[in-house]
Amino acid sequence: MLLLRAVAGRRLPPLTQLPRGCSRLAAGSATPEGQPGATPGGQPGATPEGQPGATPGGQPGATPGGQPGTTPGGHRGAAPGGHRGAAPVLAALLGIGAVLAYGERQRRSAQAAQAPPSPPYPRYTRAEVAQHRTPRDRVWVTYGTDVFDVTEFVELHPGGPDKILLAAGGALEPFWALYAVHSQPHVLELLRDYKVGELSPEDAAVTPGDTADPFAGDPPRHPALRVNSSKPFNAEPPPELLTQSFLTPNELFFTRNHLPVPSVEPGSYRLRVEVPGGRALSLSLAELRRRFPKHEVTATLQCAGNRRSEMSRERPVKGLDWGIGAISTARWGGARLRDVLLAAGFGEKSGATEDWHVCFEGLDTDATGTPYGASIPLKRALSGEAEVLLAYEMNGQELPRDHGFPVRALVPGVVGARSVKWLRSVVVSPSESPSHWQQNDYKGFCPSVDWDSVDFRSAPAIQELPVQSAITEPRPGAAVPAGELTVKGYAWSGGGREVIRVDVSLDGGRTWREAALGPRPERGRGWAWALWELRAAAPAGTRLEIVCKAVDSSYNVQPDSVGGIWNLRGVLSNAWHRVGVTVTP
Ligand code: MTE
Repeated sequence: MLLLRAVAGRRLPPLTQLPRGCSRLAAGSATPEGQPGATPGGQPGATPEGQPGATPGGQPGATPGGQPGTTPGGHRGAAPGGHRGAAPVLAALLGIGAVLAYGERQRRSAQAAQAPPSPPYPRYTRAEVAQHRTPRDRVWVTYGTDVFDVTEFVELHPGGPDKILLAAGGALEPFWALYAVHSQPHVLELLRDYKVGELSPEDAAVTPGDTADPFAGDPPRHPALRVNSSKPFNAEPPPELLTQSFLTPNELFFTRNHLPVPSVEPGSYRLRVEVPGGRALSLSLAELRRRFPKHEVTATLQCAGNRRSEMSRERPVKGLDWGIGAISTARWGGARLRDVLLAAGFGEKSGATEDWHVCFEGLDTDATGTPYGASIPLKRALSGEAEVLLAYEMNGQELPRDHGFPVRALVPGVVGARSVKWLRSVVVSPSESPSHWQQNDYKGFCPSVDWDSVDFRSAPAIQELPVQSAITEPRPGAAVPAGELTVKGYAWSGGGREVIRVDVSLDGGRTWREAALGPRPERGRGWAWALWELRAAAPAGTRLEIVCKAVDSSYNVQPDSVGGIWNLRGVLSNAWHRVGVTVTP
């Protein structure tokens, strides 16, 4: 319950005060990760960081069954012709979206007006279950040998009705296997309320579909990584290792996966490249290496959610609780995207493509077969200066599986989400990628926008990231010896804007000193971070509040506090970084 409050940023009454439908919503929403994913039906495409409630097309439009649309957070938007009844009272408690869902549930309950079956339960074949796929025909699902009628839960599903309906008429197991967050006792408890029957003995003996763990083929990982979620795998290096070296060792490079890691046979790998005029290229890995000059770039990759944990301390946000380590640096090698697009015939008869985009798709797919995807403006892809790569090397080695083997897009200076891994296609298109992650995630909003009012169409997709810095040593709360204290950290800015200065304060921001910036191998190409260090006196018995802020080549500077940049998804968290320590007497 508390977790739901934390996640949705809404104030809810205790479960006991809620009508039954609403308490189900609450129970189904609360998960250890604070994700609204633990609900019957699963939400393919949902990850511990994001929970697409929109369609694969990324549009929060009408859902199957003709129900009003959902927002990407899976929360219902104000439906035209909404319902009345309990609305005024509950609106204050739950937000209007949930009230509308509740009203709809009441209407359907009244329609159904049947006492739920009790043991001995009627027996159904899988074929009979399969006939119940829409709210009109009732929505049935199976789990194990039990049959459930979840019609009334559909609209309360925090991941959105469209997601739960994907499982309609069939087994939940393949969906829950992909999103392990569902496999929790309270979710089964919730499901029990909806039981209407059992599978016929002949069907009960057959295991439904593919229930194997889709993450079983994920690669082994380094034990030093701090794991934020294991399925899908998301992990960051511990701060004290993060700035040990300018290039992050591949094994320690932060990993951000939304889905299982695909297993790619390099011999049969093909990359499809499409440009306007119907022309296309299909490249093997060997051709990509042989036909195009290898270009190398040292670039820092940062996830939009880096330092989210500080934002959620201000006010709860939805997403993985990244510390300061969702950022790393490598030397990338590969073909320039520009060269590949030109080889595919771009430019000859491409026409007016000023505002076009390059859409990338990965080989990693959700339970519906929808791949991870993202796009960048075509201008950036074609610019020689932007140095966008189709990378096949990372720090002199072939890409590790977690980082996109055999080929990934690598877009220097741009949010990590656009550097699509396990690349299967590159398409020049008049529109941005329709992917959930382009349309309905990785966008910033005003601090007062919440999950009831958010309109993802109103904000541009994040591309270049703002200036950032953080302290990696000493650790928050550490007791440091009196004498000379060494403070270390990183600083970086998006768009190739080089960091020109890092200011450090030991007294909470009252007085400042300039940190020494470490050597940067590719000065003038501002794609990589600067590591910095400050040595200062630490008087015995004092308490120091260490603060850092970076300035980039456009004199952009980090905001002093997180309050004014807070946003419901916890992205773009770049306020001054603060670390409190005590100095031993
Ligand atoms: N590409 C695919 N195909 N699938 C993904 O889940 N995650 C994106 C991006 N590319 C992702 C992807 C995100 S959000 C980030 S921050 C970076 O990959 C992380 O890259 P890394 O795991 O190599 O650090």
